[in-house]
Amino acid sequence: MMIEHLREVDSTNRYIRRYLAGGEDALVTALRQTGGMGTKGRSFLSEEGGVFLSKLTFYRDRPAGTSFLVMTHAAVAVCRTAEEFGVRPEIKWPNDILVRGRKLCGILIENSIAGGMLHASIVGIGLNVANDVSALGGIAVTLCEAAERTLSPESVRDRLIFQLSQEDDMQDYLSYVRFLGKQIDVTLQGERFVAVARRILPDGRLEIERDGVRQLLSAAEIRLMEQTNGGQR
Ligand code: BTN
Repeated sequence: MMIEHLREVDSTNRYIRRYLAGGEDALVTALRQTGGMGTKGRSFLSEEGGVFLSKLTFYRDRPAGTSFLVMTHAAVAVCRTAEEFGVRPEIKWPNDILVRGRKLCGILIENSIAGGMLHASIVGIGLNVANDVSALGGIAVTLCEAAERTLSPESVRDRLIFQLSQEDDMQDYLSYVRFLGKQIDVTLQGERFVAVARRILPDGRLEIERDGVRQLLSAAEIRLMEQTNGGQR
């Protein structure tokens, strides 16, 4: 796999697209991004000191229905990395990694799907390590703050690259999900309500129970209750 470490780039996700035509797996990191992209068209604050990484993977014979496992793999790799530094993370469905309710990491996945098959994926990971996240007003946390020690972004980056090369499965992902069976705050198509989170299906949908009625969500904004927030804009 080709690995490229950049000083500065607009977005590693955008940059790595140049390798889509080549057919070879690639990984690109940057010390900072000037146009970091978040989910839902949001921007992602990417000051120096964080780990900003994108990994391009090509697949053969992989049904598009298994795409959620690309997300679970990235989330597990981030959680395992955080644990290596003594931090206990949790996953907020589908793609945020939190520590005590504050966002440690965001994941942005761009899949290329054709004819019902997953052809390639770009996994973008933005992990707060020693970067200044004060502009986000307390909704984000860094690994240094959570670990209560100084850490070099390069050492965290290298452990994350290692963890991304490891195997895992849905059970590993679920072991970091701590809100099942609990009440969550859901925002769905502009409507906000409280429901109980029941389970996450292998295809990534979240089953909730609202007033005794079960419902499957494929996209919604959720907020874990008892905690502050999980957004990083
Ligand atoms: C989110 O929480 O909204 C997802 C954020 C994903 C940020 C990462 S940083 C590396 C890669 N490059 C980008 O432009 N975005 C992803």
